[in-house]
Amino acid sequence: MQVSLEAERLTINWADGGVSAFPYLWLRDTDPAGFHPQTGERTFDLTGVSLDIRARSASIQSDTLIVDWPDRDAPSRFPLAWVRRHRPGRSRHDPAQVSPRCWRGDHDISNGRRFPADGILHSDTVLGEWLAVTKRDGVSIVDGLADSVDAGQAIAARVEHLRTTNFGATFEVISKPDPNNLAYTSQALPLHTDLTNQELPPGYQFLHCLANEARGGGSLLCDGFAVAADLKASSPQLFDRLAGTEIPFRFHDRDTDLRARKRVITCDADGTVREICFNAHLADILDLDEATLLPYYAAYRQFMMMTRSPEYTISLRLAAGQMMVFDNRRVLHGREAFEPATGFRHLHGCYVDRAGWDSRLRVLSRGG
Ligand code: OGA
Ligand code: ZN
Repeated sequence: MQVSLEAERLTINWADGGVSAFPYLWLRDTDPAGFHPQTGERTFDLTGVSLDIRARSASIQSDTLIVDWPDRDAPSRFPLAWVRRHRPGRSRHDPAQVSPRCWRGDHDISNGRRFPADGILHSDTVLGEWLAVTKRDGVSIVDGLADSVDAGQAIAARVEHLRTTNFGATFEVISKPDPNNLAYTSQALPLHTDLTNQELPPGYQFLHCLANEARGGGSLLCDGFAVAADLKASSPQLFDRLAGTEIPFRFHDRDTDLRARKRVITCDADGTVREICFNAHLADILDLDEATLLPYYAAYRQFMMMTRSPEYTISLRLAAGQMMVFDNRRVLHGREAFEPATGFRHLHGCYVDRAGWDSRLRVLSRGG
């Protein structure tokens, strides 16, 4: 193993033949001494050194890289394994990284797996497995919930704090006499993602069924990532329009007027689909210019037709004590109309954002 100093960087030739380069400024910015010993947050002030700072000398002593600086008495000391793991260009390992597995109309939602509420509430192992499976598939069913409006949020609280919205920290989905939301009627709800009108639509949604006794009221689910993947393969132009054009969404009632512009498909910088945002009842008046309106409608309508097709959609009927949990920025949900006169239907809902989900996965992966 050998360390050498070049004009702007330090180079290590590893014993296995690999070579890594470390810009001096990065080493200074990453020096473990520049982080608070208790909080782990960076206390080093980047403006205190010049951009072209250089090391005076460097050496490797047993398992430590030691770097001397011209402006400082104390050298920086980096554990070698650590500096290799974090070398520039290499992302930090992320235990919350779970690759999505797309599903279509033939998906068996439980995959033979049951997630009993008791297990999630009392076992970190079950909680971790359920978080990973739900993130992978975008959806899962939890069963055995207590007959209480608090039972769903008790599960959500095992993940992270709830995401409060203009509908409150939790919300009752029942047919109400004076609804401010189509969900609070007995009408059908075509497949959608919730709260597309928000600055950040909520991440994971929890819909706990307390009663489903009315005629109708079945649930629908559709993996938006599968629809987006197939649209990209079959009609890349239509995909690009949905991924490249922001459209307006709006919710308003007596107390609020919440608006946001969103793309139906949001991709990462590398083109991977990261989010789906689709809600025809919250889409505001399309205000695109005339030349783009019809081409946009062609793409938007095609996406909508795909969500209506049995090729992509699964149906299920929630029973009292069951809860649907899904990534609201990936999986679309909907329901059939129901007849309130034939029985009571009552769901209780709440949300937890994606960041809280991932945080719990990471913390659980630290082990006991
Ligand atoms: C909702 C919703 C579905 C249902 O409340 O956002 O979509 O089954 N409800 O009532
Ligand atoms: Zn909804």
